[in-house]
Amino acid sequence: MLVTGCCGFIGSNFIRYILNKHEDYRIVNLDKLTYAGNLENLKDIEDDLRYEFVRGDIADEAFVSELFKKHADDRFDAVVNFAAESHVDRSIMGGDEFIRTNIEGTHVLLKNAMHFEAPRFVQISTDEVYGTLKPDEPAFTEETPLAPNSIYSASKAAADMLARAYFKTHGYCTLVTRCSNNYGPYQFPEKLIPLFVSNLLHDKEVPVYGDGMQIRDWIYVDDHSEAIDLVLRKGAPGEVYNIGAENEIANIQLTKMLLKQLGKPESLIKYVKDRPGHDRRYAMNSGKIQRELGWKAQVDFESGLERTIKWYIENREWWERIKTGEYLKYYEKWYGNR
Ligand code: NAD
Ligand code: DAU
Repeated sequence: MLVTGCCGFIGSNFIRYILNKHEDYRIVNLDKLTYAGNLENLKDIEDDLRYEFVRGDIADEAFVSELFKKHADDRFDAVVNFAAESHVDRSIMGGDEFIRTNIEGTHVLLKNAMHFEAPRFVQISTDEVYGTLKPDEPAFTEETPLAPNSIYSASKAAADMLARAYFKTHGYCTLVTRCSNNYGPYQFPEKLIPLFVSNLLHDKEVPVYGDGMQIRDWIYVDDHSEAIDLVLRKGAPGEVYNIGAENEIANIQLTKMLLKQLGKPESLIKYVKDRPGHDRRYAMNSGKIQRELGWKAQVDFESGLERTIKWYIENREWWERIKTGEYLKYYEKWYGNR
């Protein structure tokens, strides 16, 4: 199958998961290697004969169609699209790349996957397309109207609608998964957990937005991979599946858990200016995928978090190499005046 964006966090964990689980699968990973793409994330499998890396842009129509043409005799059985600009804060600083990759790129992939008759297309989406919840509102279901609040989530919602339209208009088999906040190894240190853990390991302050009472619903990345694998093989054409682990935690509570596990003082918490348009609460109802495909998250939050922190402690070189150069410019630009 063709899987895009796998030099990033979730995609690299997904490939590792799939190749471990299915001996007979072969994967082509198409990735542009943006700031978030890192070949080191897949170093352990780069020599696996079932795996091939292709550097390219999903929004580059000529390139993508050439890739499909090259594989026309040995047709892709599926396309899974992880490739995206994924960080909300960066979409506040500028949305162009989000529109280009997340919307135009998804369209180029859909068009070519249908034309070259890849039997299934899975679009990897997010709970953020549903917008935000009040404290007492029930969790998002697949029927919740889309109400994205950031340029990132608006671009992801647009991509979901394109996947839907290819199914409705052309009968092309698209499936959409919408997952909550992932955590685990290889997450780029701009996102809350790896940013805070790596700052704390340097005894640096951790920037908590606003009052820190925003709630996210956390899921361990392997649980997400397992759910995608099921949707890929058994999901019904045209359907959307929510994925979540029922782990709602306020940011400040999570921050204190990280401090405690790393033995750092609460004086390292720095409350900073809130993220504009900040969604207050996400919560996922995963009843549909549980009922229809028999999936359920396996990893409980405490042990998943412990495993994740251990990984960042043991793989210091990985994130220390990232937190130099371009990353420092971004950090200064975004956090400098907050
Ligand atoms: P990431 O930022 O870690 O990785 C994105 C990858 O996409 C990188 O390897 C990057 O090089 C690649 N990429 C970006 N633009 C590209 C382009 N034009 N062509 C080809 N490759 C390109 O992202 P992630 O956190 O691993 O998220 C992966 C997907 O899962 C995204 O679609 C995201 O919206 C979705 N998602 C993420 C989460 C989460 O908590 N991280 C939750 C739900 C859904
Ligand atoms: O919900 C799924 C989404 O989760 C994915 O679609 C996105 O790709 C992914 O980036 C993530 O989005 P969030 O905005 O929820 O993740 P982030 O790690 O950026 O922030 C998590 C929460 O922590 C959020 O409420 C903002 C807050 N935060 C984040 C950072 C980076 C802080 O308080 N301080 C920070 O420095």
